[in-house]
Amino acid sequence: MKISKTLISQEEIENKISEIANQINHKYKGQELVVIGILKGAFIVVSDLAKQLELDVTFDFMSIKSYYGSESTGQVKIVKDLEYDITDKNVLIVEDIYDTGLTLNNLKKLLQSRNPKSIEIFCMFVKKEVAKDLIEINYSGFEIGPEFVVGYGLDYNGKHRELPYLGVLS
Ligand code: IMP
Ligand code: MG
Repeated sequence: MKISKTLISQEEIENKISEIANQINHKYKGQELVVIGILKGAFIVVSDLAKQLELDVTFDFMSIKSYYGSESTGQVKIVKDLEYDITDKNVLIVEDIYDTGLTLNNLKKLLQSRNPKSIEIFCMFVKKEVAKDLIEINYSGFEIGPEFVVGYGLDYNGKHRELPYLGVLS
């Protein structure tokens, strides 16, 4: 498998992160924010975003597995849980990609049950044609087609996460 083309360049990604960081800085000005990165895919988005936040911010990470086929129960298996208590906190979930939306939908339900003050979602890439309209994405980086993409945190069998751009594999 090879990267057949660059779908979104490093420069486009950098500009988008700045744009979204500005929105987040504006929205949470003067408030505390807990940024929750969903491992592993979101590690690069979180670190790029982090450098541009001018807020009272705490970072935490979570790793989950969704039980596909049991969508209605909203069950997720927690592989690694948060370290901090999010009760009464403003929470921003950061995810790499929204494909069917099941992962984020289940995760939002789970975190909501811990009674945060607020929850918003930043998803870097959204597969517009595939995405079921399950939840609102408050900040979305790029809408992309249904093809399988790698880079900027996204992998194929654990590989290609380190690419600074988003590429298509074929
Ligand atoms: P969802 O629950 O269907 O929205 O799945 C989202 C998860 O599937 C993401 O967090 C990724 O780990 C993975 N995923 C979906 N599409 C792609 C892709 O094009 N490349 C790499 N991983 C993907
Ligand atoms: Mg993922």
